[in-house]
Amino acid sequence: MKVLYNDDFIEKEDARVDIEDRGYQFGDGVYEVIRVYNGTLFTLKEHTERLFKSAKEIGIHLQGAVSDMEEKLKQLVAHNQLTDGGVYIQVTRGVAPRKHQYGNSLTPQITAYTFQVKKPVHEQTAGVKAIISEDLRWLRCDIKSLNLLYNVMEKQKASEAGAFEAILIRDGFVTEGTSSNVYAVIDGVIRTHPANNLILNGITRRKLLEVCEEEGSSVKETRISKEELLGAQEIFISSTTAEVIPIVEIDGQPVGEGVPGELTNQFTGTQLFLTVGRIF
Ligand code: PDD
Repeated sequence: MKVLYNDDFIEKEDARVDIEDRGYQFGDGVYEVIRVYNGTLFTLKEHTERLFKSAKEIGIHLQGAVSDMEEKLKQLVAHNQLTDGGVYIQVTRGVAPRKHQYGNSLTPQITAYTFQVKKPVHEQTAGVKAIISEDLRWLRCDIKSLNLLYNVMEKQKASEAGAFEAILIRDGFVTEGTSSNVYAVIDGVIRTHPANNLILNGITRRKLLEVCEEEGSSVKETRISKEELLGAQEIFISSTTAEVIPIVEIDGQPVGEGVPGELTNQFTGTQLFLTVGRIF
């Protein structure tokens, strides 16, 4: 299996991270997860552009064009003959003796590899449980930072409670999940947090909103209060690897009838996506 190591494709076994890499020591870097369907990188441009944007936001200057990076990722998928799976790519600020300040002479380190993904058919069909957690992350959640400590901790808490995801609440309002965007159907309208600094503007989220618009589904980017969430008719989450998964129970209480809802099923049943022919 090949991995991308800066400009080169090398065998995974030969890839070594320097112990003074700032990604390793500080979580000082950014990343993307991109889905591969049938050998094609889905929404590659959107992901690559977001990677460049995240890097720029934290002052990492990536050499080369977005299109060069896209080409490299396509080559990686081809090298590994991946048909269905994903690509993980990360960029760290570089390698230097450990001190907090980083100056301006470091060379960003780029690594990427492919992995298999099992489409979460059971979760999409039956729905999953979620817990509610407080959102104690920093205020730049729009940056896809390697620093995922709080996300990791809350996901673990969910997992230990037998749940799939922790839905985060800041100041009484739902922001997102630890690794997904969150939607609730309230009075027949699909609602989700606006794309600002408090959430990651998911690529899946953007595609879903586009599809809803085209299909004339009622959707609003407005905040959902915790009370509204608990009384919602339907709840679902979206992400690159999860696609769309219904939430049927929150903190031990059923959501709606306790089974995936009608509007949610439009997305998970792939019916809508087949019609549109662009997603999943
Ligand atoms: N996570 N919000 C957070 C905090 C996320 O980590 C993710 C994705 C999303 C959904 O974004 P997208 O639709 O672009 O995948 C929202 C990835 C999959 C991960 O960390 O594994």
